[in-house]
Amino acid sequence: MQRSCVLVKPDGIQRGLIGEIIARFERKGLKLVGLKMMQLDGQILEKWYAHHKDKPFFKDLQRFMTSLPIVAMVWEGVDCIAAMRKLCGVTKGREAEAGSIRGDFAMSQSNNLIHASDSEESAQKEISLIFKDNEIFAYKKDVELHVYSQEERE
Ligand code: CMP
Repeated sequence: MQRSCVLVKPDGIQRGLIGEIIARFERKGLKLVGLKMMQLDGQILEKWYAHHKDKPFFKDLQRFMTSLPIVAMVWEGVDCIAAMRKLCGVTKGREAEAGSIRGDFAMSQSNNLIHASDSEESAQKEISLIFKDNEIFAYKKDVELHVYSQEERE
C-alpha cells in the first residue's frame, strides 16, 4: 500500500470544506491513517516547498500557508498518490476537471484548497516533516475486502 500526505490549506478550512474533502477520500475507498490540525511555520514550509524556493510566488505561498491553521492527513491505498491527485484536480482551480475537488470548489492557482504528495519521495519527506511515527496508525479496515480484489490487497 502507498501513502500520500494531504493538506487542507488555509482557504479550505476558511471555506468549511474539511468534511467535504475527507468524505470524498473515504467514499473513494482510501484509508485515513493520520490526521492533525496545526499552523505551519516558515521552517517547515522552507523544507516542504524547497523545490519552489526560487519561484516568484514563493514568498506569497509561504505567507498564505502560514497565515492560518491547516489540516494535515496521511491517506493509504493502492497507488494512493496518483489516485489522490486525480481526486484533487490540476493546480489551477479554474482549469481543474469538474468532479475533482479543485474543479468543483476552486478558481485560483494559489488558493487551491488542497495539497497532495506528487511522488513517493515527496510523500515520505512531507509525512516526516509533520507526523511522528506514533501519529500514523496501521489498522485493519474490513471494507477493504470489498474495495480491492485479493490480488490487489497482497
Ligand atoms: P501545491 O500543489 O501545494 O504545490 C505548490 C503550490 O504553489 C501549489 O499547490 C499552489 O498553491 C502554488 N502555486 C503553484 N504555482 C503557482 C503560481 N504560478 N502562482 C501562485 N501560486 C502557485
